[in-house]
Amino acid sequence: MCGIVGYVGPKKSMTTLIDGLKRLEYRGYDSAGISIMNGKGVETRKAKGKIAALEQAISAHPLDGNIGIAHTRWATHGPPNEMNAHPHTDCTGTISVVHNGIIENYGPLRAMLQKTGHTFTSETDTEVLAHLIEAAFDGNLEEAVIDALALVEGTYGIAVISAKDPDKIVAARKGSPLLIGLGDQPGEYYVASDVAAILQHTRQVVYLDDGEMAILTRTGYEVCDLDAQTVKKGVSRIDWDLDQIEKGGFDHFMLKEIFEQPTTIQNTMRGRLVPDEGFSKLGGLNLTKEELQQLDQIVITACGTSWHSALIGEMMIEEHARIRCEVEYASEFRYRNPIITDKTLCVVISQSGETADTLAAMREAKRRGAKTLGLVNVVGSTIAREDDGGIYLHAGPEIGVASTKAFTSQVIALALLTLKLGRLRNMSVVKGREVAQALEELPGQIQSMLDRAAEVEKIAEEFVTATNFLYLGRGYNFPVALEGALKLKEISYIHAEGYPAAEMKHGPIALIDENMPVVFIAPHDSVFDKVVSNVQEVKARGGRVIALTSRDEPALHGKIDYEFRIPQTIDMLNPVLAAIPLQLLAYYIAAKRGLNVDQPRNLAKSVTVE
Ligand code: M6R
Repeated sequence: MCGIVGYVGPKKSMTTLIDGLKRLEYRGYDSAGISIMNGKGVETRKAKGKIAALEQAISAHPLDGNIGIAHTRWATHGPPNEMNAHPHTDCTGTISVVHNGIIENYGPLRAMLQKTGHTFTSETDTEVLAHLIEAAFDGNLEEAVIDALALVEGTYGIAVISAKDPDKIVAARKGSPLLIGLGDQPGEYYVASDVAAILQHTRQVVYLDDGEMAILTRTGYEVCDLDAQTVKKGVSRIDWDLDQIEKGGFDHFMLKEIFEQPTTIQNTMRGRLVPDEGFSKLGGLNLTKEELQQLDQIVITACGTSWHSALIGEMMIEEHARIRCEVEYASEFRYRNPIITDKTLCVVISQSGETADTLAAMREAKRRGAKTLGLVNVVGSTIAREDDGGIYLHAGPEIGVASTKAFTSQVIALALLTLKLGRLRNMSVVKGREVAQALEELPGQIQSMLDRAAEVEKIAEEFVTATNFLYLGRGYNFPVALEGALKLKEISYIHAEGYPAAEMKHGPIALIDENMPVVFIAPHDSVFDKVVSNVQEVKARGGRVIALTSRDEPALHGKIDYEFRIPQTIDMLNPVLAAIPLQLLAYYIAAKRGLNVDQPRNLAKSVTVE
């Protein structure tokens, strides 16, 4: 989704801004632009498409200056083209704005501004901001920004420069992440929507909260609220490294991230699992033992892949902790009238910690009196800062738009939570130890599958031209079927659906013929015998069966066309193992189709708009 980077300081800003934009590419975008302030005023270059196109535009008409703002746009209002790319300027070309988010009342604001003589050059909602600031400007940029924002409904993370009040960047946030970087050199400050954009320059950051504004100049920075009252902010230190957001010899980030999973799930468990006691220590829960014991309901809310891990969490918690658990799409939860009491725990799952619907659902749950617990990967993200308690995933930065390592870490975090809740309620120490031991075995088991990735690649070769796929699983493996199908469709653009295997005969079975590949997640678990019948139903109709099995199964002999062996584990942890070959299958099919695996069309890494 859209990205912002800005710089003020002693250096020429161009290289810093372009490098910053490149670090934001992973978020997904379709045009880019840059405004630089120099002796000539504010100069802007924009281009449709990739940052390379913007670089070409700049080399044709070079820019220079020490203060600048830059943007990658993911189209919402108006198609991706040069005209709609950010930054947007006012009528005089002296005020320049980059914006993430959506101005919901841009229609009436635009009409009002046009009536008073403002001329618009784009179809975007953002352009109204430039004109509102122009209309309010009376010599001081931050005052004009405050006046303009008072008229705006919607969400924004913005950075603004003006030739009429030069030497400063004004940034403001409501509902769209923004942070300030404190540079290594004196008088050097950055603004960014994502720490990845500035990490090569600084690790010292100040996160802005909703309703806050920052003024960055070469003499310092100030944070205030939208009544211009100073706000005291703490400085946070980023503790991950740049090489974690580089490909490290892999063709794509997604492949690198798939291969990182033996380590990333270990990182999720580190210091938390107590195998001898069959217990987990979760320091960030911020709930007393009594509060945990008194919970009468858990609601888990999330979107996309995180919603799939939520479904697995629901099964784990109900089976082992015996607490009623509901899973809700965050986008639905926020607009319903859900039953929440003070004995409800709302678990919020999000890799980015910035997904607009998930954040809004968490705020709604809080408003209704629930305690909230965030399972979040990005440290310092909005959900992580606003939840009542949290379990960081510690999976490291996930750059590929298709979520892989975050998914397995989410399932691990949910397993740790299940252990904690289960052992406080119904789970015996023997069962706790069994779960803990199975958790400890997972990294080695994942590695053993990754060592056989070539087997999955070979299967993928057979299906590069497929147009449809079905993924089927039962019990804990039904959400894995959904996740396998999502992975395939989002990066390969092949239509794929996941179903509970037994549901197939209630409709999807009509689709089965020799052109329909069907992936069965069929480890030797408590529902294996049932899955065999479903495999038979597909085979009898000529479907091509790809099966994930965990041992030689005589019952499947002659019924499957392609097989990949996954290690044996306990039912509740099968999803962690089964996800790996499904991620690889999607990856290899998409890569062999020559597609942009890390930045699939129309998708954004972090969906910060509703
Ligand atoms: O950052 P989040 O986990 O909140 O993101 C939720 C979804 O947008 C995300 O999982 C999306 O479905 C991914 N593209 C899946 O690969």
